[in-house]
Amino acid sequence: MNSAAPGFLIALETSEIGALIRQSVWIYPTANIAHVLAIVLFAGAIAVMDVRLMGALAGSDPARVVRGARRAAILALIAVLVSGAVLFTAEASHVALNAVFQIKMALIAFGVVHALFIGGRAVRALDTLGPQAPMPGFARFAGALSMLTWLSVVGLGRYIAYN
Ligand code: HEM
Repeated sequence: MNSAAPGFLIALETSEIGALIRQSVWIYPTANIAHVLAIVLFAGAIAVMDVRLMGALAGSDPARVVRGARRAAILALIAVLVSGAVLFTAEASHVALNAVFQIKMALIAFGVVHALFIGGRAVRALDTLGPQAPMPGFARFAGALSMLTWLSVVGLGRYIAYN
């Protein structure tokens, strides 16, 4: 436990549920594996969505591909968030003060806001476009920024262990 952390994080980590996650031989490893598997699904959906926004897979209907991939990404992100919350509860006071974790959380917040507003606008702009139509510059920008953001989150997630 890191006593420099805010009280509510210490309370979370020292709660019965925090102790249960740490003491169980299977809860933390299972959550860790679930976190990684959910990240794989999330990254796959994001990759399809973002490369289509950037103009790849040009033979496919852009709105259908992007909307389908977006739904898959939302479901996978829910699994990433739930499994991440289990990992976090076990070591809340320690990990919350880790600068890499803080940047990761800020980038996740940015990624969600970007997906809701800029990404949402880009998706709506695809509704009138056929398969071979060139992607609007705005959609290309939204796809590239989304890809960069989520790849950075994955890299930072792995880097937490070394900081
Ligand atoms: C799209 C969102 C996210 C991505 C891409 C992501 C990515 C990652 C990655 C790649 C790892 C390293 C896994 C390993 O090497 O075993 C990790 C670990 C972790 N993640 Fe996430 N994560 C996300 C969201 C979250 C959220 C929302 C939380 C907390 C509520 C969280 C908490 C953690 C914790 C506590 C660890 C273990 C850190 C350590 O002690 O090394 N993650 N994450």
